[in-house]
Amino acid sequence: MRNILVTGGAGFIGSNFIRYMLDRHKEYRIINVDSLTYAGNLENLKDIVDNPSYTFIKVDIRDRDKIDSIFSNYAIDTVVNFAAESHVDRSIVEPEVFLTTNIIGTQVLLDMVKKHWKVNPEDKYCKEYKKGVKFLHVSTDEVYGALGKKGMFVETMPLLPNNPYSASKASADLVVRAYHETFGMPINITRCSNNYGPYQFPEKLIPLMINNCLNDKDLPVYGDGMQIRDWLHVVDHCAAIDTVLHKGIDGEVYNIGGNNEKANIDIVKLIIHTLEKSESLIKYVKDRPGHDRRYAIDNTKITTQLGWEPRYTFEQGMEETIRWYLDNTDWIKNVVSGNYMKYYEEMYSGIDEVAAGK
Ligand code: NAD
Ligand code: TYD
Repeated sequence: MRNILVTGGAGFIGSNFIRYMLDRHKEYRIINVDSLTYAGNLENLKDIVDNPSYTFIKVDIRDRDKIDSIFSNYAIDTVVNFAAESHVDRSIVEPEVFLTTNIIGTQVLLDMVKKHWKVNPEDKYCKEYKKGVKFLHVSTDEVYGALGKKGMFVETMPLLPNNPYSASKASADLVVRAYHETFGMPINITRCSNNYGPYQFPEKLIPLMINNCLNDKDLPVYGDGMQIRDWLHVVDHCAAIDTVLHKGIDGEVYNIGGNNEKANIDIVKLIIHTLEKSESLIKYVKDRPGHDRRYAIDNTKITTQLGWEPRYTFEQGMEETIRWYLDNTDWIKNVVSGNYMKYYEEMYSGIDEVAAGK
């Protein structure tokens, strides 16, 4: 039995992770805390809302008192911290919320972990924690900054973030590390490459291009479109986090990636051809400021030390993903129209804490 606090579980990766864990670990209880920003969509979890092992609580991770009471009420012994502002373009326009949620929010969680999991919380020298507890912080390869034509990110590289989003994620990584070094907190940090798959908010490259294609709208490609990202199917990311939760060595950082480097323009063309649309939809637009040229993950550590491997090929993953968006046009319509925000009110009548069966 584990009581896992998943933060940001109404977002893209968090919702996939909750479904993944409930499918595989019948004995686990998941407590999903999410403040439901524009990126939080409870419709992503419609199919599991009645699962007796699942509880949703609407709360901001920066709210110290509420997070404190959740640790007490649910005997939390594991945290998987997904909650974050996650879109680079938004961080360029409005950096502050990225710093408060991504850094301070993480620190609030760490303080509550220290308070509830330390054997003697009053003793600042105590580094002993209850058995079987873990704080897993979900980070990103973007903390390493940009690569040139050659080379890959390895866990020991310095963090050189180039935009407010990646700077806030890098800062959080350092705070998590500091709580491990100073307070002996049992932690892991995972740094994953770009994810794709079902339930991704259509402001990110792949769902945005699919949605625009379906509506015969322009496909805005930044700069020359030759920036490279290293793509991983979201279910492979979930499996990697599950692996690190169970096998990760205390204090270690693990890169997660599937060796799928692709130029943005090639992804856009793949989507166009799969949907039988015309390349004339492509519109080259002004480049993103501080745009990282290339990301590539060296996954040797997690594959050799923990035995995780990606299962999806990029071709299979993209085919399934495009099919999913075609089969779920109502989901996209609800997101684009903003109707998804009403779902919480309709389903939960504004009640902040909902456990199935309660
Ligand atoms: P997302 O934007 O889809 O979801 C973020 C979720 O966090 C939303 O449900 C939102 O409501 C919630 N949230 C935001 N601020 C909050 C707050 N103050 N309190 C409580 N909840 C809050 O993001 P995602 O793509 O699912 O990413 C999840 C995590 O994975 C992030 O930490 C991100 O940095 C990391 N990551 C993402 C990718 C990617 O390609 N998407 C790759 C590597 C790492
Ligand atoms: P994005 O999905 O925002 O992820 P990230 O910036 O975290 O890697 O963008 C992926 C790549 O696609 C990135 O190089 C920016 C580019 N991009 C476009 O060219 N056009 C777009 O409309 C978007 C959203 C992204």
